[in-house]
Amino acid sequence: MTDWIEIGRIEDVPRQGARLVATPSGNVAIFRTVDDEIFAVRDLCPHKGGPLSQGIVCGKRVACPLHNWVIDLASGEAAAPDEGRAACFPVKVENERLWLQLVRPE
Ligand code: FES
Repeated sequence: MTDWIEIGRIEDVPRQGARLVATPSGNVAIFRTVDDEIFAVRDLCPHKGGPLSQGIVCGKRVACPLHNWVIDLASGEAAAPDEGRAACFPVKVENERLWLQLVRPE
C-alpha cells in the first residue's frame, strides 16, 4: 500500500537537525543533513527508546541524546559495537514539499 502524506516544507526542518512529525504510526523524526538530504526515522532509539529527533546529526548519522548510540539515518542501524535498528520510512521532496510514506515496503 502506498500511503504518502504531506508533512510540510524542507525549510521546516533545520539543517543538521530534525523535526518531529506525529503520525498514526507514532512519532517520526524527519532529519535534514548539511547537504539537504532528508531521512525519516522512527523517533525511538533501538537501545532504550531515546528521542532520536533530539540527537546531534553528523553526516548521515545521529547520536542519541541519552547514551550516545550512533544511528545511521539511511538504514536505521546502530553503529558497532552496538546492535539494533530503528525503523526507517520512505521520504521524498517534490517542489520543496516533503512527503512521508508510512507503510514500509518489505
Ligand atoms: S536510548 Fe538511545 S543510546 Fe540509549
